[in-house]
Amino acid sequence: MTEAIGSRLRGYEDLPMPFGWFAVAMSDEIVPLEVKSLSYFGTEVVVWRGESGELHAVDPYCPHLGAHLGGGDVVGEDLRCQFHHWRFNGEGGVTDIPYAKMIPPKLKRSCLATWPIEESLGVVYVWYHPRKAAPKWALASAPIIAAEHWVKAQEHEWIIKTHVQEITENGQDYAHFRAVHGTQGPPASEFQLDGWSRRNTVEMQMVTPRGPMSGKIDALAVGPGQSFTRFTDVTDVYMMQETTPIDSGTTHLRWQFYHAPDMSDGKLRVTAARIRDLVKQVNQDIPIWERKRYNHAPMLVDGDGPVLAYRKQYARFYQFDDPEPAIAAA
Ligand code: FES
Ligand SMILES: [Fe+2]
Repeated sequence: MTEAIGSRLRGYEDLPMPFGWFAVAMSDEIVPLEVKSLSYFGTEVVVWRGESGELHAVDPYCPHLGAHLGGGDVVGEDLRCQFHHWRFNGEGGVTDIPYAKMIPPKLKRSCLATWPIEESLGVVYVWYHPRKAAPKWALASAPIIAAEHWVKAQEHEWIIKTHVQEITENGQDYAHFRAVHGTQGPPASEFQLDGWSRRNTVEMQMVTPRGPMSGKIDALAVGPGQSFTRFTDVTDVYMMQETTPIDSGTTHLRWQFYHAPDMSDGKLRVTAARIRDLVKQVNQDIPIWERKRYNHAPMLVDGDGPVLAYRKQYARFYQFDDPEPAIAAA
């Protein structure tokens, strides 16, 4: 069965890839003077780090005679195409053509499409928009981590055969927590939408080897690609999650865990168990995500959680011609 047929059968035909800030690499995966071609959004983005450490991102094909720029190298801050050694700066302008007496001004200005690129807390993000519209909100971050010297504990990643929207919808699907993850529920929760972000605050009872325990989950999602979740129970764990479409039926999921500073050995052990439990939960979800269909008109009942409110907000990330002016998110 081809991927296209598979996607069609699974209800993705009306779910294109949303626009937003998306993780495409970890910072340490792109060292200075290195060029990487990254496959996301059903296309490729060529990313390089100049000698200053600054990141740049452009479309993959050279506007001259079409060589793939992922095969180029970095000279100073510029990317040099392997085929005829044209050099490009981070604005997509030509800075050097070794054999030409002059560079036409329009090539100097810009002739290669660029992508907004930023990094935060060791993660590299690009702004994806199928029409190349400018970012509509600022990249979100987690100021508490630097301000309170939280400690990075673990990183995890998965490539999952599902549409990117499905992964974050899982957090709104309260009824599955009991069935799939064994948590007592359905949990008490609050759900707030604010511009391009949404916040879930969930108080829940968890089954632990030492018996039931209450905990709090405070999750802030900004756009379709970033979320920041603090789990407070006997420990205090912060999880950064990035969901990035590789194509409409495949998603790259990344997690980075931090814990509060100065934890006792006992709390560190509980922290490790908490992270293990979260990883176990996603591993319980994945086989369901990879075989499920996206029901455009699901049969929902009381207790199912704010699935439809979530979808309504998420639909904004598909409004590619929306002339709405850029606004700042949280
Ligand atoms: S194709 Fe890139 S410099 Fe000619
Ligand atoms: Fe789940």
